[in-house]
Amino acid sequence: MRTLIKNIKDLIQVREPSINMVSGADMKILPTISNAYLFIENDVIVDFGSMNEIREIESDITIDATGKIVLPTWCDSHTHIVYAGNRENEFVDRINGLSYEEIAKKGGGILNSAKKLQETSENELYIQSSKRLEEIMSLGTGAVEIKSGYGLTTQAELKMLRVIKQLSNNYSIEIKATFLGAHAFPLKYKDNKDAYVDLIVSEMLPKISQEGLAEFVDVFCETNYFTVAQTDAILKASKRYGLIPKIHVNQFTTIGGVQVGVEHNALSVDHLELVNDDDIKLLKTSKTMPVALPSCSYFLGIPYTPARRLIDNNLPLALASDYNPGSTPSGNMNFVVSTACIKMKMTPEEAINAATINGAYAMNLSKTHGSITKGKKANVIITKKVPSYSFLPYAFGSNLIDTVLINGKSIH
Ligand code: NIG
Ligand code: FE
Repeated sequence: MRTLIKNIKDLIQVREPSINMVSGADMKILPTISNAYLFIENDVIVDFGSMNEIREIESDITIDATGKIVLPTWCDSHTHIVYAGNRENEFVDRINGLSYEEIAKKGGGILNSAKKLQETSENELYIQSSKRLEEIMSLGTGAVEIKSGYGLTTQAELKMLRVIKQLSNNYSIEIKATFLGAHAFPLKYKDNKDAYVDLIVSEMLPKISQEGLAEFVDVFCETNYFTVAQTDAILKASKRYGLIPKIHVNQFTTIGGVQVGVEHNALSVDHLELVNDDDIKLLKTSKTMPVALPSCSYFLGIPYTPARRLIDNNLPLALASDYNPGSTPSGNMNFVVSTACIKMKMTPEEAINAATINGAYAMNLSKTHGSITKGKKANVIITKKVPSYSFLPYAFGSNLIDTVLINGKSIH
């Protein structure tokens, strides 16, 4: 099957295969071809260029993109979309004055979701999660990382990871699985937290590795959750099974999460609502991608990741949704990109780079996703008629997507 998209107003994020991420001042550059064509064979981008230089191309499908912009689909490198039920009661509790931490202390929060998930069948969990997956695909996401972490028993963590695997088998969107057994301490380990760390290390990790259910490992390294020492122990053990770290750090407090992440060559350190000078120094010495989750800051009313400080220190930055029932009940990457521009003062070019090529890097997908590059997957968003790409984050809340192609096929 050959698809030609012609008369594209602007084809954006056009890259050579050698570029696997962008940092610092380079994030302000978004390579663009105006009045362009894009040629797809089966699931791969095979050619693109200016309409002035288009050769005779035979295609099965031709899409006229006059007045429209074409860009790579979003790469959402941090989500928790496999969960059971919702937590709108806690949302109301927070409106009435309780904090996220206070709700968690009352047995709400992650433990509330874990209880619901443990009581939900694998099949029902699959059905609930597939709806969210279909929603984010229609909003332009073409690759997504999904974490476990609402199971908190060996059985329930395996159930979550099997659902992720099933989603990955049944949908065209690229899915990467992360084991987040270290998301919270189950109540029964309240007074013996190290015993839960032990369960993760000696029971969960071997089983997950045996079934090949995860590529990445995550830890919620945070006050009242997992200490730096516990994070270190889990990452050390994970390494024996070849799991690559991508960890939650600096959401509410800075306890040394960036350091332990960088020491373990984490692929990414995520959240970073708080960042100190040492964190910046450490990140500069590393290949670790900092990841910001502005929808979480928006929903919880906590600080936004200081994007300007990170980028102006010549660091890269990726943007992801954090889609989950507690802190971010939204997987809309268009809103993430808008919010990054509006609240974090990222330019549209920086935000789009952060949500495409840098997001792909943060899930080890640089070779196949994140840019318009010959040989990469034909994953593209075709917008409605818009005046410019800056209009996308500007018109926040409007759905400006006309068509989403994943692996060369329209998902609609
Ligand atoms: O990334 N911070 C830890 N985990 C999630 C929230 C989990 C929840 O509240 O269910 C997050 O924000
Ligand atoms: Fe998260």
